[in-house]
Amino acid sequence: MRLEQKQAIVTGGAGGIGRATAKALAAEGAAVAVVDLDGAAAEAVAAEIRDAGFTAIAIQADVSSEPDIERIVATTVAELGGVNVVFNNAGIIRRTTAVETSVEEWDRVFGVNVRSIFLMCKHVVPVMAAAGGGSIVNTGSGWGLKGGGQAISYCASKGAVVNMTRALAIDHGPQGIRVNSVNPGDVNTGMLRDEASQLGQDADAFLAEAADRPLRRMGEPREIASAVVWLASDESSYVTGSALVVDGGGIA
Ligand code: NAI
Repeated sequence: MRLEQKQAIVTGGAGGIGRATAKALAAEGAAVAVVDLDGAAAEAVAAEIRDAGFTAIAIQADVSSEPDIERIVATTVAELGGVNVVFNNAGIIRRTTAVETSVEEWDRVFGVNVRSIFLMCKHVVPVMAAAGGGSIVNTGSGWGLKGGGQAISYCASKGAVVNMTRALAIDHGPQGIRVNSVNPGDVNTGMLRDEASQLGQDADAFLAEAADRPLRRMGEPREIASAVVWLASDESSYVTGSALVVDGGGIA
């Protein structure tokens, strides 16, 4: 058990990568707060974790909202006894070019993908620092390192996640807080199907294309979860500010 005595917040915890990671963190001994916009789905994941004999609570929240972030941190401290691991993972994608993107859509993507991480760190870092430190992992993307087509707001937001991670690592390393990004390639979750639908493409053909990389398949959520568990645990105690790529090769 690599995460005994730890309390973890997982945002987007009802989605593909978030659910797999919440379960993996719990299986290593962490008590987990599963946070999602979809409260019923978050509760289902928390119940799944409890049924397996581990500890979890569910919190319905919009991570782009400061009052919601303050409530997430306060509830986790009150119910789980503290916070020393945070997986800032909630995210959305809009498959549009600059010309096709409205200002409202741009702001929403940045609200969910970027402002959320700023807000979480603003409110959780003092709690972690007072308790002697912790580990924060932010979900970037291969497209945050390299770029991609028809996803201008997403690519910009994930680039911001990667560099914000480095800035946070510099500021809060002296307080014992490590901050890293995990950068997946295509992973088999609802997001990929949503992308196919936004682009008006057949989902099966879109998923087959995602296998076009050296390892000849897309990633599974548990493969991202393994990387997050390592970054959350003391096994990565000298790693901070890094952008870990988990993409089957070749994207970034
Ligand atoms: P997903 O769509 O399965 O999960 C995303 C979760 O975030 C959903 O449960 C959704 O309800 C939640 N969410 C959305 N907006 C929210 C908000 N405002 N507040 C709270 N929760 C909110 O997608 P997936 O694939 O699990 O995505 C997780 C992260 O991984 C995202 O940041 C995504 O950008 C990133 N990623 C995913 C890749 C993929 O191929 N699936 C590739 C690279 C990065």
